[in-house]
Amino acid sequence: MKVLSVVGARPQFVKAAPVSERLRRSHEAVLVHTGQHYDHDLSGVFFEELALPEPDHHLGVGSAGHAEQTAAMLRAIDAVVEREAPDVVLVYGDTNSTLAGALSAAKRDVTLAHVEAGLRSGDWSMPEEVNRVLTDHAADLLFVPAESAAATLRDEGVTAGVHVVGDVMYDALRAVRHRVGGAAPPGDVSAPFVLATVHRAANTDDPDRLAAILDGLAAAPRPVVLPAHPRTVEALQRYGLHDRASEALELTDPLGYVEFLGLVEAATAVATDSGGVQKEAFYLDTPCVTLREETEWVETVEAGWNVLVGADPAAIRAALTREFDRGAKPTPYGDGSSAEAIVSVLEAELGG
Ligand code: UD1
Ligand code: UDP
Repeated sequence: MKVLSVVGARPQFVKAAPVSERLRRSHEAVLVHTGQHYDHDLSGVFFEELALPEPDHHLGVGSAGHAEQTAAMLRAIDAVVEREAPDVVLVYGDTNSTLAGALSAAKRDVTLAHVEAGLRSGDWSMPEEVNRVLTDHAADLLFVPAESAAATLRDEGVTAGVHVVGDVMYDALRAVRHRVGGAAPPGDVSAPFVLATVHRAANTDDPDRLAAILDGLAAAPRPVVLPAHPRTVEALQRYGLHDRASEALELTDPLGYVEFLGLVEAATAVATDSGGVQKEAFYLDTPCVTLREETEWVETVEAGWNVLVGADPAAIRAALTREFDRGAKPTPYGDGSSAEAIVSVLEAELGG
């Protein structure tokens, strides 16, 4: 079986790593990097730490507006799909790289498999929501992390090809778990501290929301470490908020995966608008304060380990101040053997 995987942004390197490792054992695995993320700390560091092979095709698309970026990726992926003639195209998550990979497979009538299918925020203004819905409705095989995602797809009339396989990010975390631990916070910060990430367009591209999040984090009862995504740094500079942020918070460059997970584990709480980080906090027993009004990872909220506070400074401060009532932790996203389940389904469907 020849499997062509399309990746391009930070969380996709994490998601692809366990599947790629499993595929390479018994199949022909072709890795395509769109180049959506290109800085070493958003891309190269994940290849090093997760032992991902060098991409077979690096498309070097880079940054641009949504339509322009997606179109450039589609054109470049299409040429690779034509040349490689894979049995299946595998896409991950909800970025523009995901949608471009999905469209190329659909237009070439190649089987399309989507890992992390069935997740919804219900917010059509969110670029990732558009990418997810379109990808799911083009996919032949939909690998969902939890029963709730399968139910969402059923409500949209998608029932064929849906497989509940658990969360591949749990596989990825388990693979490096022995290297995670003992991480010291950067700068002058010492424990106890809060770890924060902010990069979602709805938060960074609205100066009032970004300022409100800063105010909430600055009012936390503990020092806050914020490894800042380039989108966030640019927004802080654009809105004249950078000095305020660096005075109130410990701003750093994005961190490598293992170091970052170490800080997730060591923090008293995580404050984030990231999808992946909400789950990693859950797996590492750290309470999460989500800087959004909704989440795709509803089970973490239902279990009492995640609270949605949006961009309200008082709510952010209150959530970072209170003691979390950490309930018994369910395992809605499987046991970390998702890559095995995905490859088994691909073998059954495509004949090994
Ligand atoms: C993208 C995804 C988002 C995902 C995030 C993971 C879409 C629509 N969004 O958002 O779902 O959560 O990746 O981190 O696909 N930049 C750099 N260096 C880089 C890459 C980007 O400086 O290596 C800067 C550029 O100015 C760029 C901006 O960051 O314009 C945003 O990058 P982009 O990939 O468009 O979106 P993200 O915000 O990273
Ligand atoms: N991450 C990292 N270093 C950082 C911030 C995040 O390694 O400084 C990892 C994190 O552990 C998770 C992934 O990046 O695996 C999440 O990516 P991001 O938050 O950019 O995207 P999202 O999950 O929201 O799509």
